[in-house]
Amino acid sequence: MKQFDIAVLPGDGIGKEVVPAATRVLNAVADVHGGLKFKFTEFPWSCDYYVEHGKMMPDDGLNTLQNFEAIFLGAIGNPQLVADHVSLWGLLIKIRREFEQSINIRPAKYFKGLKSPLVNPNDFDLIVVRENSEGEYSESGGRIHKGEDQIAIQNAIFTRKGTERAMRYAFDLAKKRRGHVSSATKSNGIVHSMPFWDDVFNEIKQDYPDIQTASYHIDALAAFFVTRPQIFDVIVASNLFGDILTDIGGAIMGSIGIAPAANININGKYPSMFEPVHGSAPDIVGTGTANPIGQIWTAKMMLDHFGEYELGKKLLDVVEEVTNDGFKTPDIGGTSTTDEVADEICSRLKKTAAVS
Ligand code: NAD
Ligand code: IPM
Ligand code: MN
Repeated sequence: MKQFDIAVLPGDGIGKEVVPAATRVLNAVADVHGGLKFKFTEFPWSCDYYVEHGKMMPDDGLNTLQNFEAIFLGAIGNPQLVADHVSLWGLLIKIRREFEQSINIRPAKYFKGLKSPLVNPNDFDLIVVRENSEGEYSESGGRIHKGEDQIAIQNAIFTRKGTERAMRYAFDLAKKRRGHVSSATKSNGIVHSMPFWDDVFNEIKQDYPDIQTASYHIDALAAFFVTRPQIFDVIVASNLFGDILTDIGGAIMGSIGIAPAANININGKYPSMFEPVHGSAPDIVGTGTANPIGQIWTAKMMLDHFGEYELGKKLLDVVEEVTNDGFKTPDIGGTSTTDEVADEICSRLKKTAAVS
């Protein structure tokens, strides 16, 4: 029996609703497989935890997480209880940084059964490789309080190592896909880090003669996501550009509630972390209407990470089938609840087991 040891952090808001739905689905996946088991260990680290303990996680929290094969996280953030910069730097970003999860991969594709807002949504299938440890999200800078002269400064930091790492990851991924990498840039001399980004891109692409490339200014690229996403295969983007692009990626599929993501530690020294693109959605928390697909598709990315590609594919096929058959939460035009969607996915998975 193969067992995967997973740390589960539901976090805040709808994280506490979609994570149990997704772990239930993962247990159904394990049942279908027979020779596989997930061992889930849950941690309550969140804004509620902060209110009780004055910190987002215990001082030895990272040590505790270190021993797991993966971290499965819902969302962090309850701005009514704890300021976002405190909760995010205290948990989410801390894990991404300390565990060197330097790559964030976020796919978006035409999803069967979903009404995309695009005029022509047919068959787009793209993946954003987001640099996940530096860039515009650097810790260098601060707020200087001097009356009317107060200023906020944040330095964007692009290291050769971090930039090259994201680009090589994108090129290697493109080799396994349709062989095309687009670079998200802003090299028209305004954002000073971007001509550097371009230089690294132009250099790295020489090592991948079989891969086609293109560069787009981020503003134009964002528009192309809406007007013709079919032109993209792999897109490599800086931390902030990738963040923004991937919410658009969710939107063009039909809802940010279905968009998945994986924070990858590429050297295998630390666990990778799997969390959807969306946040804690305070506006719908407690209504039972949160879409669980983002979290469930994220679970599929975790299966891929474990090398369980066939199981992952089976899971996503079932999710698409269930969506296509009308089991939908309100964000994608249905009336189903979070649990109804997850239950239907579980029961279909069990049926596939019965026939295979
Ligand atoms: P959000 O993604 O939480 O919500 C944006 C909109 O999308 C809302 O209208 C929400 O209802 C909807 N939505 C999101 N997920 C959904 C789902 N699964 N089903 C149906 N609808 C869904 O973004 P926000 O409002 O900007 O942020 C809310 C909080 O979440 C903030 O504290 C923010 O910092 C945090 N956040 C955390 C993460 C993370 O932990 N990975 C990611 C993004 C935002
Ligand atoms: C995401 C989120 C985070 C980010 C926030 C909550 C810090 O928006 O995972 O997309 O910007 O990385
Ligand atoms: Mn985001």
